[in-house]
Amino acid sequence: MSFKIKKFLKKKNKQKITCLTAYSKSVAKILDNYCDLVLVGDSLANVLYGMKNTHNLSLDSIINHAKAVKLGIKKSLLVVDLPKGSYQKPQQAKKNAKLVLKKTGCDAIKIENNPNNLKIVKYLIKSKINVMGHIGYTPQFKKKFKVEGKNIREQKRLQKHAKDLEKAGVFSIVLECVTKETAKKITNELKIPTIGIGSSLSCDGQILVTDDILGLSGFYPKFIKRYANLERIIKMGVIKFRKDVRSKKFPKKKNSF
Ligand code: KIV
Repeated sequence: MSFKIKKFLKKKNKQKITCLTAYSKSVAKILDNYCDLVLVGDSLANVLYGMKNTHNLSLDSIINHAKAVKLGIKKSLLVVDLPKGSYQKPQQAKKNAKLVLKKTGCDAIKIENNPNNLKIVKYLIKSKINVMGHIGYTPQFKKKFKVEGKNIREQKRLQKHAKDLEKAGVFSIVLECVTKETAKKITNELKIPTIGIGSSLSCDGQILVTDDILGLSGFYPKFIKRYANLERIIKMGVIKFRKDVRSKKFPKKKNSF
């Protein structure tokens, strides 16, 4: 296990873990100073490419963005999502995970879990690949948004799933849109850190999509808090630029050769 992962694991029960997504070098460079983990998430599909879901994102796309992100990362743990369809069979999952690791230099991969892909997780870990799990609402496998773990049956199922993943060797698990009670039970039962998105303060850490918290994505459901309004800042800058262009105030002598 790498030094970075060991450091990440030690945070459980000591300090809440801060995680955000990045798809470019410039954003990654900023996040690296403040985040424990940076994820090149397949949310890239919706957020940057405007796709209606994450289902058609190619492995090449995520590799290209992860390569750019890596250029901005020094300290934080870099995790890359395997896109839907790229880890259906153990051999295929291993080949693609190794490709991502080799081409991007990331520390680990994340896959969305369902009870059927536990054997894939085991196989990847046996192949010495660091894996982050992802349970609860998993956009690659679910057609409709739903908060997970609302009743005892669902709660027990998620608890077992998390335990199985821990036993298989994942170093951390994302809990997406899981109820507070369920997130609390899972977090208390596991030795590895849980990272919540829409899953309450009970998790060991939090992850959100950077474009959402900065007010750039136009996607603001209940579990997101907006910390800046980049849309407004960009708009103001663009309006000023247009004014200068139209009034011939730009470029000035100092901007010309
Ligand atoms: O794709 C993504 O960005 C994610 C997180 C937000 C957990 O999976």
